[in-house]
Amino acid sequence: VALQPLNTFGIAARAHSLARVRDEAGIAELISQLAGQAPALVLGGGSNLVITGDIKGLVIKVEVSGKRLIEETDKGWLVEAGAGENWHGFVAWTLAQGWPGLENMALIPGLVGASPVQNIGAYGVELQDRFHSLDAIDLRSGQTFSLDAAQCGFGYRDSVFKHAPSDERSYGLAGCAIITRVRFLLPKPWTPVLGYLDLERKMAETGISEPDAMQIFDWVVAIRSAKLPDPAVIGNAGSFFKNPTVTPEQCADIIARDPKVVHYPMDDGSIKLAAGWLIDACGWKGKSVGNAAVYERQALVLVNKGGPEHPCTGGEVMTLAKAIQTSVYERFGIMLEPEPVVV
Ligand code: EPU
Repeated sequence: VALQPLNTFGIAARAHSLARVRDEAGIAELISQLAGQAPALVLGGGSNLVITGDIKGLVIKVEVSGKRLIEETDKGWLVEAGAGENWHGFVAWTLAQGWPGLENMALIPGLVGASPVQNIGAYGVELQDRFHSLDAIDLRSGQTFSLDAAQCGFGYRDSVFKHAPSDERSYGLAGCAIITRVRFLLPKPWTPVLGYLDLERKMAETGISEPDAMQIFDWVVAIRSAKLPDPAVIGNAGSFFKNPTVTPEQCADIIARDPKVVHYPMDDGSIKLAAGWLIDACGWKGKSVGNAAVYERQALVLVNKGGPEHPCTGGEVMTLAKAIQTSVYERFGIMLEPEPVVV
């Protein structure tokens, strides 16, 4: 089975077999057929994935659909979506229903089911700020279970679903579960999140100082469209590295040498650096290995410049990523950590 249409990088790997699952019953049946054998990969929108070779086993594509309001209370709107719903479509739908809260996360590629895996976030809001709970099925036992936010172990672009069971987190669930449904609590009263520089710029440009949720949604769509490549046009997996955090001492050391380094103080006293700036400062914009390239308008994004005809390989992407890591490390003493899942 060709995996090229199923990953937003557009890498032309193949899988031995592919099963599309639409609901809990279908997943349970598939698991019983597997008789204890783990699938090689569970796939959502394939938007946070680098495939480095053909996949020998079974790939499961989750296509659970449906979105509904569970209840509205004075705390907010409790909304549920199937893991196979398109994320951006879901965000747009909640807003159209008059339930604001997800607008800062507009236009993030991928499906609802993948959103908790890496705790997606943008423009000052992370999934964990709006997350209520999720349903999943254990691939080993076929049992359905639910997790609340604490049980998901959310961190910056991180959750239990990114850690193998053998990791330091003994509760890691990577490769062990299929997320089927996700519930969000969109809090009342709605409060806009406008602290991000790009949004402040929009407010200044338009003179709108009290935007509603739809306005913020439109701004985020415009900002993202201007600096991030549309995976439907140029293959990519979003930001390729996490923004690193350093101590104030480390940051002061870098500022002494590179006064322009983009940095943000965090609540816990650490400092977050813009990985895109570090990569850009090392001169990587537009550079390539084979058909894997650094995007011209955002150095944090690696792209497939060969298109569907001559796609980059996962190996080229990883070679480019390693070269970037080495050069940033040599100049700044910081080891960048890749953000997508590499299989
Ligand atoms: N910058 C440069 N050169 C570059 C890229 C960035 O100098 O080539 C500078 C920018 O000028 C800016 C700073 O770095 O001052 C930060 O850039 P940007 O606002 O584009 O955000 P980011 O930190 O690169 C993060 C997320 C994005 C998210 C945006 C907006 C991560 C790894 N990435 O990017 O998330 O959309 O903030 O909130 O945290 C993703 O995870 O896939 C993703 C796209």
